[in-house]
Amino acid sequence: MKRIIDALAEAEVFEIRWFGGEFTSLRGWQEAVAYAFDKGFFMAFVSNGTLMTRESARFLSSCGVTGGAMSLHGPEKMHDQVVDVPGAFGKTIAGIRNCWEEDIGVTALFTPTQMNLHSLYDLARWLKENEVPITEIDIGRLCPSGEAVDGWDKRRLSLVDYRYLFQVMREVQRDFGLHAYMGDAFPLCALPYKDWGLVTGCWQGTGFGQISYTGELKSCSILGGSYGNILEIPLTEIWTERLKIMRSLDYLPRQCRLCPHFCGGGCSASRAGVTHYAPDEFIPKPEEESVLTLARRVPGLLNFYVRSTIDRWKTQRGNGQNAKPLPPLSAKPRLNCQFRIRQDLDGFIGFFKNRGILTFDETSARIFQLIDGRRSVEDIIVAIAGVEPSLDGLIRETVLTFLDSINRGEFLTFSD
Ligand SMILES: C[S@@+](CC[C@H](N)C(=O)[O-])C[C@H]1O[C@@H](n2cnc3c(N)ncnc32)[C@H](O)[C@@H]1O
Ligand code: SF4
Repeated sequence: MKRIIDALAEAEVFEIRWFGGEFTSLRGWQEAVAYAFDKGFFMAFVSNGTLMTRESARFLSSCGVTGGAMSLHGPEKMHDQVVDVPGAFGKTIAGIRNCWEEDIGVTALFTPTQMNLHSLYDLARWLKENEVPITEIDIGRLCPSGEAVDGWDKRRLSLVDYRYLFQVMREVQRDFGLHAYMGDAFPLCALPYKDWGLVTGCWQGTGFGQISYTGELKSCSILGGSYGNILEIPLTEIWTERLKIMRSLDYLPRQCRLCPHFCGGGCSASRAGVTHYAPDEFIPKPEEESVLTLARRVPGLLNFYVRSTIDRWKTQRGNGQNAKPLPPLSAKPRLNCQFRIRQDLDGFIGFFKNRGILTFDETSARIFQLIDGRRSVEDIIVAIAGVEPSLDGLIRETVLTFLDSINRGEFLTFSD
C-alpha cells in the first residue's frame, strides 16, 4: 500500500479517496491513511459507515479529512433488506453522526434498484425528521456489475424509472431543503432540459481513476479491465499514453462527437458486457446510429435551445443585481479553501479542496501563488509586472479580470 501511495505522490496526484470494498474493514487502514496524510494528500472516503466509530472519525479528521460519503439505500427496513444485513442502517446512521461530531460532512449515496426505487423520498424524510446531519444525497446508477449482472434485464432501471427519480430529487429539495442529484453521468439528451442541472457527470480517466490494492489502474471502479499497474509502469505514462484511446472518443456515436453540450456520452459502466469505454445504455453505439436514433433526440435538443436562451437572457438581466464587484485595490485577497497547483501536460491544474479542479495558464498560476492574504490586489499587479513583461500594457487588466472571475466563483475572501 505504501509503495502505491509513493507512486501516487510521485505522479503529483492531488487527492486519495478511500473506497473499496470497505476500507474501514482493512486491518491497518489507519497506517495507510496516516502515511498518505504525511505525503500531503487531500483525502476523502466512501464507506458503508458501519465501522465508523467516533475514534475512527476523529482519526480521519486528524488526517485532514473534512468530507466523505456513506451508502444509504432507503429507510431502515429497506436499507437492511438491500444490503442484506439486519441492523446495518442503525450503524451507518451512527457512523454519520460520529463523523459530524468530528467535523466531517457526509454525503448519502443512494443506489436505486428495482427494490428501493420508490424509497428515496421516504429516506430523505426520515433523515430530515431525525436530524441526521448529511450534507446532500447523491443518487448513483445501478450498473451491470457484480451481483447485479445476474438477470440484468429484470434488474435494470428504465429511462422512465430514472425520469421518476429526477422528479423525486426535485421534491426532496423542495420539501426537505436537501440537495439530491444524479452523482453519475447521464446522457443529457435523454432528459428534459429542466433535469440537466441535476446531473453531475463523470470524470473517469480524466479527473480520477481507481487503483486497486495491487496497483492496477482502472478508469472507473465499476468497469472491469486495467490500463496497467502503477508499480510497474509510471502512472503518468499510463494516464497520458494508454488513455489516449478514450480521449479519441471513437467509442461514441457521431452525434456525441458533434454535440454542442458534450456530456461524455453518459456512463460507460451502464452498458452490459463492457470493460472499458462505451456509450451509455440509453444512447446508441456508433454502429447502431441512424437518422432515427438522431431524430429521437431532436425534441429534447430543441427544448434545450429555447429554454437555455430564455435562461441566459434572465441571467443577463439578473447579473446587474447579483454582480460581485472586486473591493478596492488595497484589499488583500485570500483563497478560501486549501489548494495545490501543479504543471500539467498543457498549462497548469489546481485542486481546490471541497471545490473541485480548475485548469489555467502560467500567468494565472502565478497569480494564485501570490494570493496569500498579505499582498493587496495592487501588490499582485506590481509583482506580475515584474515577471511578465510580455504582458506590457495588459497586466492590470489581466490580473483584475482573473481575480474578478474567481471572486465571482466564490473562491476569494478579502481583508483590509
Ligand atoms: C462498492 S461500494 C464501496 C464503498 C462502501 N463499502 C459502501 O458501501 O459505500 C460503493 C457504492 O457502490 C454501489 N454499488 C455496488 N454495486 C453497484 C452496481 N452494480 N452498480 C452501481 N453501484 C453499485 C454501492 O451501492 C455503494 O453505494
Ligand atoms: S454528448 Fe452524446 S449523450 Fe451527451 S448530450 Fe450530447 S449527444 Fe447526448
